[in-house]
Amino acid sequence: MKLLDGNKIANQLLDNVKLSITEYKTKFNSSPKLSTILVGNNPASEVYINNKIEACKKVGILSHNIRLSNKISQQELIEIILNLNQDPTITGILIQLPLPKHIPNHKILEQIDPLKDVDGLSPLSMGKLCYKISALNVCTPLGIIRLLKYYNLENLAGKNVTIVGSSIIVGKPLAIMLMDLQATVTICNIFTKDLKNKIKDADILISAIGKRNIIDSSWLKPNVVAIDVGINRDEIGKIHGDLDFDTAKNIASFITPVPGGIGPMTIAILMENTLTAAKLQR
Ligand code: GUN
Repeated sequence: MKLLDGNKIANQLLDNVKLSITEYKTKFNSSPKLSTILVGNNPASEVYINNKIEACKKVGILSHNIRLSNKISQQELIEIILNLNQDPTITGILIQLPLPKHIPNHKILEQIDPLKDVDGLSPLSMGKLCYKISALNVCTPLGIIRLLKYYNLENLAGKNVTIVGSSIIVGKPLAIMLMDLQATVTICNIFTKDLKNKIKDADILISAIGKRNIIDSSWLKPNVVAIDVGINRDEIGKIHGDLDFDTAKNIASFITPVPGGIGPMTIAILMENTLTAAKLQR
């Protein structure tokens, strides 16, 4: 078994971004600035946002965090985004999901200036992804692809890839990226009948459900490449993935740890996107 070391690769990406940010600052005499918006007080979202702000500090990107009550109306939130779109000092806008139930994600995401859409989650960016013309791609799926590439695992023609989870943040855009790499993609969810056999067939398994032990290690194909996007906290705050790492690692040829796998890759790609977005506005 070989570890797909997200921490290591993410740190390399961050070092590169840091270097490019220094060049950017010299050239333009200003810094990229990421505006993060957190609505409500979902504890997991707070952790994610804090990690993103920390990463900004590390690479030299300015950031400011707008925190809003979960009672905010759709129109009020739209007004805030329109103001950020107009502000030339803000080069990236990130809206942490999930939003409160009364606000449909797409109504908000479609308001973000496409050049500032560092999360690549707006309907326009998603559409461009389908045409392979998107400059800013969704962070977690791209982080997974980059990790596969780093370990020379991106030759996916004729390979079966099973994705468990079809969210807009992971499963859907990831399926498109993998299809473009000629993979045969199967997308499952918690209602999938016979999940076991869909997983048994997978040369590459990607689980993004967010439920501890949803994947039984006995279902894994020997030498599978196992990518675990799940982040599940137990009673004492320890983080686990969707797979049981200790048993899965004996069957997989490559496996991501949790934590230290896809989480840091997501953040590193966000930093890359934030730099790209700033350059696009020049
Ligand atoms: N919520 C969980 N993951 C993400 C992410 O990558 N981006 C955003 N905007 N919200 C999230």
